Amino acid sequence: MSGRFITFEGPDGSGKSTHFTRAADWLRDRGIDVVCSHEPGGTALGRAMRQVFLESPWDAPDGSVEALLLFAARRQHLRELIEPALAEGRWVLCDRFTDSTLAYQGAGRGVPIERLRELDRWATGSRQPYLTLLFDLPPDKARRRGQSDRRRKSVEGVNRLDVEDLAFYERVREGFLSLARAEPDRFRVIDSSASVEETAAQVEAVLIELTAARV
Ligand code: TYD
Repeated sequence: MSGRFITFEGPDGSGKSTHFTRAADWLRDRGIDVVCSHEPGGTALGRAMRQVFLESPWDAPDGSVEALLLFAARRQHLRELIEPALAEGRWVLCDRFTDSTLAYQGAGRGVPIERLRELDRWATGSRQPYLTLLFDLPPDKARRRGQSDRRRKSVEGVNRLDVEDLAFYERVREGFLSLARAEPDRFRVIDSSASVEETAAQVEAVLIELTAARV
């Protein structure tokens, strides 16, 4: 059986990470060999870059600097972890991938999409996930959730992007949705404004579809 590369996308506070963990458990319970990873991060180089990206004490980099960092780490992530796992027939679940760069650095920060596509061609060979679950909800709701999450964690849990204004997150949301509209076969949009259980039911429907299509 061949490996599958599945990504989870959506704005901060969309509940994506909770459903990511649950989806991995759901697949493992059905005997599927799942590798979980995330971006920024995923490898030692990626984790070092994540620190530079999210916690930099220096002047904020612009969207192009962010994109260059993210794609460098992404290439390493593919070479070191994602492609070898897929080649062994394992399934790779990744919490964020290139669609995040298109939404955050492209739609959010205004880096021209064509530039990002060009970088993507160079860094990853335009590597596409087999399927992408997009967790969608309005930014004001996402923000309220994010804030209560962070209160539960700690002040250190607040990163550079957490303090962006709502207009930024409106652009990011619209960026994600326009990617989903452009590639309806790859994307499944999950309405995550509902309760955790209702959202989980939508995710499970996608997982059932996914495992039924397994060859
Ligand atoms: P993280 O704490 O991992 O948040 P989340 O649980 O929501 O994924 O922080 C990741 C942040 O990095 C998040 O604000 C989105 C941002 N990001 C980009 O701007 N571009 C990217 O390509 C990626 C992968 C993440």
